[in-house]
Amino acid sequence: MTEDPARRVGVVHGPNLNLVGDREPEHYGPETLPDIEERMRRRAEERGVELVFFQSNHEGELVDWIQEHRTDVDGWVVNAGGLTHTSVALRDALVASDRPFVEVHLSNVRAREDFRERSLLEDRAAGVVSGFRGDSYVLGLEGLLSRLRGDAS
Ligand code: DQA
Repeated sequence: MTEDPARRVGVVHGPNLNLVGDREPEHYGPETLPDIEERMRRRAEERGVELVFFQSNHEGELVDWIQEHRTDVDGWVVNAGGLTHTSVALRDALVASDRPFVEVHLSNVRAREDFRERSLLEDRAAGVVSGFRGDSYVLGLEGLLSRLRGDAS
């Protein structure tokens, strides 16, 4: 497995993702957020990458955290939850960070209600991974690291 140069990645979880594992398992799968984070942490360790995690149900707290960490991370893995479809502020914070980000979703947002098809993040994202439950985060991390290595444009 490729070792990446020392990197730090911010992992952002938006509203209601604290309930994953309990909440609508038919969409979001059986794993809890700590389970998913542990899997990401293991993959990151293999790659020599440090992860910093943050979950909030509050848009402003997410914006504050992204602003705070924008100079000490190399990129972001973001599941903005419902804010994906509504939040100009979150989009602006990620764009202002000037760091690449991958948008991830546990469920396949394209196979659900129409309002979930619209993302305010995707056109600025390095890529989008949707529908693989907890694996979406691990795949998103891999995609981001590949982007940071310059393997993907
Ligand atoms: C989600 C999809 C969103 O539409 C929803 O509001 C969520 C979770 C996902 O991971 O599939 O909260 O981002």
